[in-house]
Amino acid sequence: PLTPGDLAKSIAARRACDYVEDGMKVGLGTGSTAAFMVRHLGQLVADGLRVTCVPTSARTGALARSVGLQVVTLDEARWLDLTIDGADEFDRDFNLIKGGGGALLHEKIVAAASERMVVIADPSKRVETLGAFPLPVEAVAFGLQSTRAAIAEILASADVLNRSVTLRMEDDAPYATDEGNRILDLDLGRIGDARRLSIQLNQIPGVVENGLFCDLCDIVVVGHPDGRIELRD
Ligand code: A5P
Repeated sequence: PLTPGDLAKSIAARRACDYVEDGMKVGLGTGSTAAFMVRHLGQLVADGLRVTCVPTSARTGALARSVGLQVVTLDEARWLDLTIDGADEFDRDFNLIKGGGGALLHEKIVAAASERMVVIADPSKRVETLGAFPLPVEAVAFGLQSTRAAIAEILASADVLNRSVTLRMEDDAPYATDEGNRILDLDLGRIGDARRLSIQLNQIPGVVENGLFCDLCDIVVVGHPDGRIELRD
């Protein structure tokens, strides 16, 4: 049996699949909520739905193939009708923090190439102001200390509560993204101006991308453990 949290995720994931129409090109997100969506889409395809899918991570690509989805690269698809993805936080303006699962770069590229982005979430992801969840920043390994120093300089004058920066680790080694980059997790507590911070971070040469998604999400589907669904668009 599913835990209440997993039940909420799976309810949101199933409802979001209603947006998928026959013949669509669909971006597949990464994370535990997105995994429910990929499995459900696999069932719909087994029942006759035709879709072409672009995964946002190696992990999602493997899952998608295992449930029978047709997987192509974003360059092969060129553009997408729809992307369905999870989020670590979303606010009332549909600004997001993503990248808890480390896939933020491909997730943002895929979302930006999509006509519409649908976020699927359980109620715990909704926040008044972004920032309780540490903001992931993908940075190249070369010159990482210089990049950290540049981030610290920006944070010193940013509208945030905390300013600690942690290199993400996995099994005693720095975590490596699908592109072989590092992740710095920024504990900020509260992000006063997400758009401004996102632009500032991306101006640092060693920063590849950050986990703030502004103006990308069109619809949020929130599932509740009791079966209720909230749609926001
Ligand atoms: C992956 O990099 C993230 O952006 C995920 O979308 C995010 O971490 C949500 O994951 P869960 O659905 O597992 O909470």
